[in-house]
Amino acid sequence: MSAYYFTRQFDINVLDITLKLEQKYEGDVGCVVWDASIVLAKYLEILYNKNPNRFKNLLVLELGAGVGCVGLTAACLGANVILTDLPEIIPLLERNVLLNIEYVKNNKGKTDVIPLPWGTNVLKEKPDIILLADCIYYIQSIEPLICTLRNACKEDTQIFISQEIRESEKQQECWRYFLESINKYFKIKNIPLEEQDEEFRSSDIVIMQLSIS
Ligand SMILES: C[S@@+](CC[C@H](N)C(=O)[O-])C[C@H]1O[C@@H](n2cnc3c(N)ncnc32)[C@H](O)[C@@H]1O
Repeated sequence: MSAYYFTRQFDINVLDITLKLEQKYEGDVGCVVWDASIVLAKYLEILYNKNPNRFKNLLVLELGAGVGCVGLTAACLGANVILTDLPEIIPLLERNVLLNIEYVKNNKGKTDVIPLPWGTNVLKEKPDIILLADCIYYIQSIEPLICTLRNACKEDTQIFISQEIRESEKQQECWRYFLESINKYFKIKNIPLEEQDEEFRSSDIVIMQLSIS
C-alpha cells in the first residue's frame, strides 16, 4: 500500500512539531501539498505568534483541503476544524488527519472531515474562519465556490485565501473573474508580503482576507 504514498513533512515551528502529510503518486490535484497551502499555514503561525489564543476554540472551515496541511495546522493551533473536499479526496484527508491526530489532541484542537462539493450546503453551524488554499483554478467552480462562501459566512466570519497566480490565459481569466465576483460581496484586504513568513512567502502567491462587514 505504501508504494502509493510519499510523505511530505511540514514544520509548525511555533509548536515545535512536524506534521506528516501523505501524498499520492497518482491522482487528482487534491493528492499533493501545494505551495499556496504552505504559505497560508505559515501565515497562520504568524497570527498565532502575535496572539497564542487567536484560534483557540474557534470554528474553522477549510474548503478544498486536499491533503490537509492548512486545516491540520489550524487544528494544532487550537481550532475546531472542519476539513472538506470532494468525496473522492476524503479518504486521503482522513488518513492524514489520523496520522497527525495526537498533535491535534495535545494542542487542544479538534478535527472533523466531511465531503463538501462547492455549491452544496451541508454545514450545521457557520464558521468563525474559512481557509482556502490554491482553489481558484477553473472557471466553472467560481460561482458554486462563491455561493458556498456566502452561505457559510456570518457577520464576523473571516476568510483567508491563499492563491498562486499562474501565467496561462485560462488561469488569469479565472482569477480575474473570481476577483470581480468577490468584490460584489466581500471587503477585501491584501496581506502584504512583509507581514507573511519571511521564508515561506512568494511574489507569485497572494494572501487575501475577506469579510462581509
Ligand atoms: C490545487 S488543489 C489545493 C489543495 C490544497 N488546498 C493545497 O493547497 O494543498 C485544489 C483542491 O480543491 C478541490 N476542489 C476542486 N473543485 C472542487 C469542488 N467543486 N468542490 C470542492 N472541492 C473542490 C480539489 O479536490 C483540491 O483538493
